[in-house]
Amino acid sequence: MRLARGVPAIAVFCSGEGTNLQAILDATRAGRLRARVALVVSDQPDAKALLRAKRAGVETRCYINPREYPTREAFERALIALCEYEKVRLVCLAGFMRMLSPVFVRRYRHRILNIHPALLPAFPGAHPIRDALQWGVKVTGVTVHLVDEAMDHGPIVLQEALAIRPGETATSLLARLHTIEHRLYAQAIRLMLERRTRIVGRTVTIR
Ligand code: GRF
Repeated sequence: MRLARGVPAIAVFCSGEGTNLQAILDATRAGRLRARVALVVSDQPDAKALLRAKRAGVETRCYINPREYPTREAFERALIALCEYEKVRLVCLAGFMRMLSPVFVRRYRHRILNIHPALLPAFPGAHPIRDALQWGVKVTGVTVHLVDEAMDHGPIVLQEALAIRPGETATSLLARLHTIEHRLYAQAIRLMLERRTRIVGRTVTIR
């Protein structure tokens, strides 16, 4: 008799609102994403993401204070221990406002995703929406990419473009980008978990 294979465990690291976490949780609940959010981590004690995780019944959700660790590496070793304990297949950064060091990246090479509200390599960093508007771009969008040692840099899994409207504000753009993010992230996670991505150098091919 063949045993049914387990539902893959994923971790989501957040720092704030957690609307992307919510979209992932909703996708798993609706059966659009065959995965179990086994771990939610926040580096901020009052992140709404933690509340969302609690409401969704995620058992392992924690605030980890990086300042309680002597070094960034020690903090990340604690994150690795949590992921290992939960047998996490994929780590999803969703508004996690910290850069991961080589300690974490090496351990989960090609198994860490990030979502960014711009078309990388344009507008990396903490304020991509503001920066894109200030630049006067006509098109921006969302990128889901693998995380490597540099900021907002790893191979791109999915991207979707969005035309800027006349009179667009940061608020209206954020809302429209979020709508894309909430669909695109679950889609990218699914492709990774179903092993439909092949990574060669910077290029991710989707089967
Ligand atoms: C998203 O726009 C994501 O692209 C960026 O941070 C934001 C997080 O939003 N990395 P939320 O916490 O998921 O609502």
